[in-house]
Amino acid sequence: LLSHNFSTTTPNNSIQNITVYGSGLMGAGIVQVAAQNGFKVTMVDIEQKFIDRGKEIINASLKRIAKKQHKDDENAQKSFIESTLSNIKTNTDSLKGAENSDLIIEAIVENLQTKQNLFKKLDESANSNAIFASNTSSLPISEISKVTKRQDKFAGLHFFNPVPQMKLVEIIKINQTSEDTYQSLIEVTKKMQKTPVTCKDTPGFIVNRLLVPYLLEAMRLAERGDASIEDVDTAMKLGAGMPMGPFELSDFVGLDTLKSIVDGWRKDGKIDAGLVASVKKLDNLVKDGKLGRKSGEGFYTY
Ligand code: CAA
Ligand code: NAD
Repeated sequence: LLSHNFSTTTPNNSIQNITVYGSGLMGAGIVQVAAQNGFKVTMVDIEQKFIDRGKEIINASLKRIAKKQHKDDENAQKSFIESTLSNIKTNTDSLKGAENSDLIIEAIVENLQTKQNLFKKLDESANSNAIFASNTSSLPISEISKVTKRQDKFAGLHFFNPVPQMKLVEIIKINQTSEDTYQSLIEVTKKMQKTPVTCKDTPGFIVNRLLVPYLLEAMRLAERGDASIEDVDTAMKLGAGMPMGPFELSDFVGLDTLKSIVDGWRKDGKIDAGLVASVKKLDNLVKDGKLGRKSGEGFYTY
């Protein structure tokens, strides 16, 4: 079941309309990539100011891509951006946002209760055949989905930051995920020019299970005074070929998101305690609202 079974059967309900909840770092990126690839997308957040921030993230990214794709042809750049934006609607009313949606992707704050509250509400009002997917970094899909009556149409659809640039999507199946749902998600990720991998509903799925303990260990190494954060970042870029060092990457992902992941794993108790032991520096930065790039300061100042 975990192999790449890109079978030829096209799923019955091919997806056209997608609603994304959360217009932050990830939600805005998912909206953009879906819209760029011809899907009709509704972006939903709780307040207009968060929608506006999501639009800024999308516009900045589209400008970069337009320049790259249509070097000096300003008209082509403009029509690329406008045709993508024409596929995007926004809403601050979560129920209205789900109307006519074939696929709902949740990319809201990494909190189990908040995700469950949203999905429970949507389960009662969204199309009965709409697929539900969570972009969670680390929470169990089985836990998120258990508040709905559609676990056969539920899976994890885990994108990577920055969504427009990172080609990977992890598809996380729960026992109840139907083959049709799975095939629909394979089809959607390929239409978004992404490469899907499949894994079980285990803590951190694939990438985060390996990446987050590495990020934490870098913090412990610096906390012990073994090396500076700058040298650790330089070492991992020049010595291990990483595009970003662990402190740059932690600030990029968001220290609140990282802390939520580790706290959730510690509570879960399924991962070796040493791998997820808390890091004082991370806890203090988040407590002080220093969340990394998204708040202007984390391990580094931006
Ligand atoms: N929109 C569009 N294009 C973008 C972009 C964006 N938001 N961000 C970067 N790019 C493109 C640039 O246009 C550029 O394209 P070309 O190479 O074709 O010119 C390319 O990406 C490189 O960008 P930059 O030149 O600006 O900068 P860089 O070389 O430092 O790359 C980076 C930036 C892509 C973020 C790179 O540093 C990188 O890949 N970092 C690692 C990111 C990573 O590990 N992400 C996963 C985090 S874990 C996660 O996401 C899961 C979770 O649950 C926490
Ligand atoms: P973020 O803080 O940038 O954005 C979260 C957004 O969700 C905010 O705009 C917030 O207003 C909105 N929101 C909160 N409650 C909501 C609700 N009930 N309805 C609608 N919107 C609501 O967070 P992010 O970094 O984009 O992460 C979002 C999700 O994606 C988390 O589950 C995170 O674990 C996961 N994720 C994050 C990354 C990353 O690198 N940051 C990568 C992959 C997955």
